[in-house]
Amino acid sequence: MQYTWKDIEQHVACCTQCPLSRTRQLPVMGRGGRKADIMLIAEAPGAEEDRQGKPFVGRSGQVLDGILHGCGLTREELYITNILKCHPPGNRDPKEEEKEACFPYLKYETFLLKPKIIVCLGRVAAQRIISPDFKITRQHGAWTYRKNCALTATYHPSAILRDPSKFDVVKEDFFRIVKKREECRGRGVL
Ligand code: URA
Repeated sequence: MQYTWKDIEQHVACCTQCPLSRTRQLPVMGRGGRKADIMLIAEAPGAEEDRQGKPFVGRSGQVLDGILHGCGLTREELYITNILKCHPPGNRDPKEEEKEACFPYLKYETFLLKPKIIVCLGRVAAQRIISPDFKITRQHGAWTYRKNCALTATYHPSAILRDPSKFDVVKEDFFRIVKKREECRGRGVL
């Protein structure tokens, strides 16, 4: 059976596959352009996202918007989602069993979107999506190719809140992402 966006939304909205469903306020389904070429994947909703039920609407979201704006990207040109759709209390790292329980939703989102470029925001997403031994400090900005998709990772926006000097590093990575999209378009891949 072929799921639709509406099916995934409905499943996420009433998911009880892991204990986070008992502590969350609202589950956070991915958002953005459903025809976007670029998919951003972060780790899990924060406290503000939990309250509003939307990804990146808190302080990390403001930082992300600053980066996107600086690179001429809008949220509609991207699809933004998380590995976990529910907020882990205290912003702790997602547990293995939570990631496994939630992974089918990400798979369906990816299947329906068919992004040409996937950008992992932070270590947790990069290690789940690109490689378990991914080192964000050494490997951010590098490209891996899988099927018809280019994958990369950069620091999570919350890392910029902790260390503002990373802003320019992430912006550089995003400039390369925009360039990669132009290359894909030039080759007729997009
Ligand atoms: N941090 C994340 O990893 N995801 C969000 O949606 C917001 C903050």
